[in-house]
Amino acid sequence: MCGIVGYIGKEQAAPIVLDGLAKLEYRGYDSAGMAVFDGSEIRTRKAIGRLKILENLTRGGETMPGVSGIGHTRWASHGAPSDRNAHPHTNGTGTIAVVHNGIIENYILLKKKLQNRGYEFVSETDTEVLAHMLDYYYKGNPLEAITKVLHRVEGAYALGILFADHPEVIYAARKDSPLIVGRNESGSFIASDVPAVLKYTRTVYYMDNQEVAALRGDGICFYSLDGEMVEKESVNIDWDADAAEKAGYEHFMLKEMYEQPKTISDTLSPRLQNAGAGKVEEIVIEELNMTDEELRQVKKIHIVACGSAYHAGVTGKYVLEGLARIPVEVDLASEFRYRDPILEEGSMVIVISQSGETADTMAALRESKAKGYQVLGIVNVVGSTIAREADACLYTWAGPEIAVATTKAYSAQLVALYLLAMKFARVRGILSDEAYEALIEDLKRIPDQIEQLLAQKQTIQHFANRYLGAKDIFFIGRGIDYAISLEGSLKLKEISYIHSEAYAAGELKHGTISLIEEGTLVVALSTQPALYQKTVSNIQEVKARGAFVMAVANEGNRAIEKVSDYAVFIPETNPYFANSLAIIPLQLFAYYVAVGRGCDVDKPRNLAKSVTIE
Ligand code: M6R
Repeated sequence: MCGIVGYIGKEQAAPIVLDGLAKLEYRGYDSAGMAVFDGSEIRTRKAIGRLKILENLTRGGETMPGVSGIGHTRWASHGAPSDRNAHPHTNGTGTIAVVHNGIIENYILLKKKLQNRGYEFVSETDTEVLAHMLDYYYKGNPLEAITKVLHRVEGAYALGILFADHPEVIYAARKDSPLIVGRNESGSFIASDVPAVLKYTRTVYYMDNQEVAALRGDGICFYSLDGEMVEKESVNIDWDADAAEKAGYEHFMLKEMYEQPKTISDTLSPRLQNAGAGKVEEIVIEELNMTDEELRQVKKIHIVACGSAYHAGVTGKYVLEGLARIPVEVDLASEFRYRDPILEEGSMVIVISQSGETADTMAALRESKAKGYQVLGIVNVVGSTIAREADACLYTWAGPEIAVATTKAYSAQLVALYLLAMKFARVRGILSDEAYEALIEDLKRIPDQIEQLLAQKQTIQHFANRYLGAKDIFFIGRGIDYAISLEGSLKLKEISYIHSEAYAAGELKHGTISLIEEGTLVVALSTQPALYQKTVSNIQEVKARGAFVMAVANEGNRAIEKVSDYAVFIPETNPYFANSLAIIPLQLFAYYVAVGRGCDVDKPRNLAKSVTIE
């Protein structure tokens, strides 16, 4: 989604803004722009396309001198990508400049009112209404004008605002779109996300909903929409800037795939507590804030998420139901929020989100809380809205994930769900000590096993190179293998732009099998011993129609080589944990197909890292 960066202080603003915007490129965008107060007026430059174009246009910011500035990378929602629709947007006289993330839902009505008052619009965006409304309400006091405007708009916003009359201040405001502000000795910063300012400061404030900040070179004040001052605590960011750099890898996605063993250990270790000499570790999830008795009272779990986080949730359903015998429903957040879900007494809601800012997931969280249910968030970004609004938050310690296609955060989500399932099973007395100990040992082996799988990258790359021209690729599997298929297929299509679908293997013959032609690649997941024979039958069905089958199966299952054309094996683990291993060759496959096709792997077209609009 769009990115915002702003700076005010002793340094030149434009180079800092450009540098920050470059750190937010991963969020996805199609145009960029910047407004800087040059000592007498606000100067604005915008350019469709990559940020490089804006950088060249302004010679790295040199042609835009000034110590206060705001910048934006736009992901088009209202109006096509163009110079005109790019932000910042200004009032007619160019004395107020605004950058905005989010959507102003009542903008058509507001625009009509402004047009009736004689305001002329030059763009098709919803944002431009904000610039003109600020102009309308501005009578010399920017804060007053901002709060008046924000009382009248509906929807979501993160804003950076510059007034030519008050160049010593940059204003920021937020509702349902992420925004942080930060400080160092030289000045104050605003940004959509921490990596944009990490080079300059580690002291940041997470803005809350319906809050306004006034940033000066020497301090920041926060206000409510009623204009009352608000006290806020700063947060010290403890991950370093290197975590958000490529560290020699060709792409962030590859780097993040390679970080998966560490990510899993970091998510696992703090929740495994030594239970004494000779004893296997106990699972302790303090963040749950629930006693064993309260956990026993949970009668049903609703998992709600989007995209890959939803796919992790589908796996979670199989594992929670299988291990802990709790009924689980999994919903896409965009569906859940509007279907008036029936949550019975004893229901618990788990929302899963890497960014912690996904609009639909956030709405599902609020809907559940409004109905009086406890919500547990499984979230990666520390301090994000979902993490703060959930009743309890289980962090996945994956660190910053930059590539739009998630890999390490997804893997960490799986581990969080395994831990929960085992915890529930344990307190309900379902798991014998023996079975529990074996599961713990299998969990602890996952990081090393992922290393082994990553070491096979050349073989997968070689295979991937044969499919650079594929038109359609299908992923099939049953049970947990179906959940793996969903994620394998999404990884491939989102970064390689090859059409791909995932099907429950048993469902193929109800229609989809008609799409199989001579040579169509079918990736068959077969990691679940109890379902092996059934999946083999489905493999034979597609092979009989000419498919080329790549199987992903358990080590030792040599029989699969006879029914498939190419097989990849995963090391031995408990079938409940197979997803964590089987997804690795699928991530590598998607990555190498995308690289081979010359795609922009880290920033696939039309996609955004954090989807903060519906
Ligand atoms: O930040 P979230 O986990 O809430 O994001 C959910 C989806 O937008 C995300 O998983 C998306 O599907 C990714 N592009 C998948 O790689």
